[in-house]
Amino acid sequence: MLQPDATYQLLRNLTSPVVAITAERKGKENGMISDAAVRASIVPAVPRLSVYIHKFNYSHDMIFETGRFGLHLLQTTQLDVVHRLGFFSGRDQDKLTSIPHHTGKTGVPVLNECFAHFECRVANVMDTGSSTLFLGDVVAVGRGAAAGLEPRGELLTATYFRTNMPAEWRAEYEAKLKDAQQLAAEMSRTITPVVWRLTR
Ligand SMILES: Cc1cc2nc3c(=O)[nH]c(=O)nc-3n(C[C@H](O)[C@H](O)[C@H](O)COP(=O)(O)O)c2cc1C
Repeated sequence: MLQPDATYQLLRNLTSPVVAITAERKGKENGMISDAAVRASIVPAVPRLSVYIHKFNYSHDMIFETGRFGLHLLQTTQLDVVHRLGFFSGRDQDKLTSIPHHTGKTGVPVLNECFAHFECRVANVMDTGSSTLFLGDVVAVGRGAAAGLEPRGELLTATYFRTNMPAEWRAEYEAKLKDAQQLAAEMSRTITPVVWRLTR
């Protein structure tokens, strides 16, 4: 077995593109960043995706309680959105006020500018101890920017973000990652199976 750090570096090859996850609960809107989202169905008529969200993030309970979320593929020109949504918590500030968005068909915020967006209803969940893996049925989709906005840039990958983030963000990013790893380490060993409620 490799050393844990070497194993983690290899696992990093499995990170997804950078996505912005949005949620709305009782009128309060929020957004966060993940790089752990994947397509979860090969059936065009049953579009599904999954995303892994830590329980200590504010967005987690918003999604768990409402059973819906928005997922946005981003563009390489949107590093500022990653900073805004991924470096601060919605517990402390209203992050979406500075990012143009509108209300989607399911009631979740949809960013006006993105590579593509998917609105999802939670179909099932899996507890990992420190996080929940949400399986989402895609119930609405939009390609690229909202009307009137030209798409800018290529799909934003995690590698692009890590390589090209402004130098002044790096220490904060590493510190946040370390804190999350510590919190997750404490929670990861206790897995509680969950029976998901039907939302339809
Ligand atoms: C590049 C990047 C990738 C991230 N990936 C994840 C992830 O996969 N799952 C997760 O729970 N948090 C992830 N985060 C951290 C959250 O986006 C961050 O903790 C955010 O502040 C949570 O916001 P909230 O408390 O308002 O929900 C990531 C952050 C960045 C910058």
